[in-house]
Amino acid sequence: MKILFIGDIYGRPGRNAVSAILPDLKKDRSIDLVIANAENMRHGKGVNHSNVTEMQEAGVDFFTSGNHIFKDATILDHLADPDYPLLRPANYPDEVPGNGHRVIESPNGKKLLVINVMGRVFMPGDLDCPFREVDKILKDFEGEELHGIFVDFHAEASSEKCALGHYLDGRVSAVVGTHSHIPTADQRILNGGTAFQSDVGMTGPLDSVIGADKELVIEHFLTQMPLKIEVAGGPKVFQALEIEIDDDSRKAVGLEFIQKTID
Ligand SMILES: [Fe+2]
Ligand SMILES: [Fe+2]
Repeated sequence: MKILFIGDIYGRPGRNAVSAILPDLKKDRSIDLVIANAENMRHGKGVNHSNVTEMQEAGVDFFTSGNHIFKDATILDHLADPDYPLLRPANYPDEVPGNGHRVIESPNGKKLLVINVMGRVFMPGDLDCPFREVDKILKDFEGEELHGIFVDFHAEASSEKCALGHYLDGRVSAVVGTHSHIPTADQRILNGGTAFQSDVGMTGPLDSVIGADKELVIEHFLTQMPLKIEVAGGPKVFQALEIEIDDDSRKAVGLEFIQKTID
């Protein structure tokens, strides 16, 4: 099974980049399932239903998220629907709307367990331990017929992301980091067969500070006044990790970081 994971899609420029690039990419590379992190799809913060529909039309099959998931409250009702194709991090308290894992199926019947957890180092909130949360989910799926297990670890610190990658090595097919919006060059298959990249980066405005208008962010750092966020314009970058998984062993057998820039 071949999956493609697209980093945080940032605002309209990010959505436009996905619509322009993904349909051909999905076909040319024979991708079975496309997953994308949706937390910044609505004007850089949050996600709404029309964003989800727009990206499904471009070929995204399923969505993960992170700390911005609840910024647009209209998404809460959708998250309460157990079939809605969007996860919130699993390590929020149980009573929070939504789910942190789901089994999805490719058109040719391959089953992929997708897990979304959030880090605790330099992150807002006081969530449960992401390491133990994944353990719990994996225990629930012991003996289930799955062809792969994918983890989006939405976290700031590279150390926490590397540690979770090694912790889960050999037990899941892939651990890919999101949230920093900056891709790291450490993509590889770990010793036990788990595909890993500390951060896959974002898909959105290239000439920006992690997607936002650079002048406003610079002004914030110079003055320490409250940060105003506007989505930047100009060229767009598309960043994603393609992962090939052996359906029988569930181990990663190939991976390629894809980075494309368009006007
Ligand atoms: Fe993000
Ligand atoms: Fe985030």
